Amino acid sequence: MTSRIVVLISGSGTNLQAIIDACKTEGFPGKVVGVISNIPTAYGLTRAEDANIETSILSHKDFDSREDYDQSLITVIDQYKPDVIVLAGFMRILTPAFVQHFQGKLLNIHPSLLPKYQGLNTHQRAIDAGDNEHGVSVHYVTEELDGGPVILQAKVPIFDGDTAEDLASRIHEQEHRIYPLVVKWCCLKRVVMQGEKALFDGDIIPVSGYASEE
Ligand code: GAR
Repeated sequence: MTSRIVVLISGSGTNLQAIIDACKTEGFPGKVVGVISNIPTAYGLTRAEDANIETSILSHKDFDSREDYDQSLITVIDQYKPDVIVLAGFMRILTPAFVQHFQGKLLNIHPSLLPKYQGLNTHQRAIDAGDNEHGVSVHYVTEELDGGPVILQAKVPIFDGDTAEDLASRIHEQEHRIYPLVVKWCCLKRVVMQGEKALFDGDIIPVSGYASEE
C-alpha cells in the first residue's frame, strides 16, 4: 500500500524536491499528497506545484499564539490523512499538543550530528568549536527541540578555511540522500517509534543512528 506523505516547509525545499524525486522511482512505497508552508513566498511551494502536488499556506503571522497556529496546522494536516509527516526545513518550534497529536509519524532533518548542536546556526558553531567533522541527522520529533530519537546520520569532513556556506552545501548533498531513504523506511514501517526509541526491523536504533559505527 502506498503511504501518504505530507511535507512541511519554510524555504527553498531542496529536501522536499529530493523526496518528490524519490517518490517517482518505481516501487517507492509513498507519495507526497500535500505540502504546507508557513511562509507564503517559500520556493518549495513552486516545486510542489510543478509536481502537481496540492499546497497550502498557513502563515503564522495570521495567528495570535503558537497554540492557535498549531491547532490550525493539525486541522490542515489531518485532512490529508497522512501516514508520515516530514518536516523539511520547517522553521517553527512545535507545541506539545502538536507533537503528541502526530507522535510516531513526525520526522525532522537537523543539520548536525545530534545530540550536538541542537537549535540554530549549527554550521558556524561546529566551525567555531574547531570540530573536524559535522553532519546531519534524521530523527523522530518529540517534545524536546531536536531531541527525539535519531534514525540515520551522515557525516561530512570540515576542512581548514571552510565557511558555514561551504559546510551547508556539503551537508545538503547528504541530506538529499538520507532523507528519502528514511522516508522510505517509514512508509514501509521498517522504522517505527516505540516509546522514546526508534526501531529498525524490530531492533532499537543506536543513539547515533542506524549506520552508527559504535
Ligand atoms: C536543511 O538544511 C535542514 O537541515 C534545515 O533547513 C534546511 C532546509 O533546506 N533544517 C533545520 O535547520 C531545522 N532545525 P531545504 O529547504 O532546501 O530543504
